[in-house]
Amino acid sequence: MRLATPPGFATEVFLLEAPDPSLLPEGPWTLVGDQRLREAWIEGGLPEPSDALWISVSEEEKKLRTVIPWLEHWARIPLHRDATVVALGGGVLSDLAGLAAALYLRGIAWQVWPTTLLGMVDAALGGKTGADLAAGKNLVGAFHAPKRLVACTGFLRTLPERHMENGRWELVKTAILQGELGWATEILQTGPVRTGWIERALAYKAGVVHRDPREAGERRLLNLGHTLGHALEAASGYQLLHGEAVGLGLLASCLLGEEQGLKPFPAELLDALARRLAPLAPLVAPWQACLPLLHRDKKARHAPGHTEDAPVTEIHCILPRPGESAIQRVLAPRVWEAPHARLVDLLDREATRA
Ligand code: GLY
Repeated sequence: MRLATPPGFATEVFLLEAPDPSLLPEGPWTLVGDQRLREAWIEGGLPEPSDALWISVSEEEKKLRTVIPWLEHWARIPLHRDATVVALGGGVLSDLAGLAAALYLRGIAWQVWPTTLLGMVDAALGGKTGADLAAGKNLVGAFHAPKRLVACTGFLRTLPERHMENGRWELVKTAILQGELGWATEILQTGPVRTGWIERALAYKAGVVHRDPREAGERRLLNLGHTLGHALEAASGYQLLHGEAVGLGLLASCLLGEEQGLKPFPAELLDALARRLAPLAPLVAPWQACLPLLHRDKKARHAPGHTEDAPVTEIHCILPRPGESAIQRVLAPRVWEAPHARLVDLLDREATRA
């Protein structure tokens, strides 16, 4: 099924159960695929180009040096300007393949076939491509929208349970971002992820990134849960998966909203979030480990009087509101201290109950 997207949207978006070979590029194309998906790709009746790259990239290899052999390989084929790169895999692979497509011959077309829930509902849509630098994640990249996104839910059967749950947090984020507490509660219940939720999340994100493709305003809302979330993810030594960290950051954001005088979230929703997050409690770093990471966040700016020894920074924070869309505020990183403490208390309480 082709999803409705805003007129003029850069990417055609398809959501299907089984892969459909007719959605592959009509002209010349090549593939960069996660090798774990090769069997499913071939069994799905999809063609395998002779110059395909089947690779395994971990989070630690999301580096510029990883894509250089791919670029050299395309130049040897040679892949011409009219060719399309098809990226098959999760967010790390699609971010790198999109970046390689943006760099090769100063930009060739690409399609993305996300195979993780996180990729389907977030990473693959919106044209953000990138790699990590030693100083932090996604510090280098390009906006280069894929021509087509083909999300085949059948690929999700290859996904370990923890990674499915990881993607579920981006769905919960999308619901809370819009103040849709009924939808958030539904997603938080145990039970399989529904295709209708993926469709709804894709439709919402398509609207946002179409209005603000370069994250100059509204698109920043998609970072809900990411401010403290990124700090927790890094402080855990990346033992927390990205979506899990976003889930923790999401609960902390609900608490921060209340601290900042916004309408409080119902206790039932906070409890439901804490219940689902409680198993992650041992991976939640203490506040002292998070604060320096918040000062160094890429959304943080040095304010007048800043020095390395006495940092004065301000950071873009997204505050959710029940029944309404989230809002943005620029705040000092230390405002997260109290929500972090409450987050730890709520998780401990739920872990004790379990
Ligand atoms: N993942 C957030 C964005 O695409 O803007």
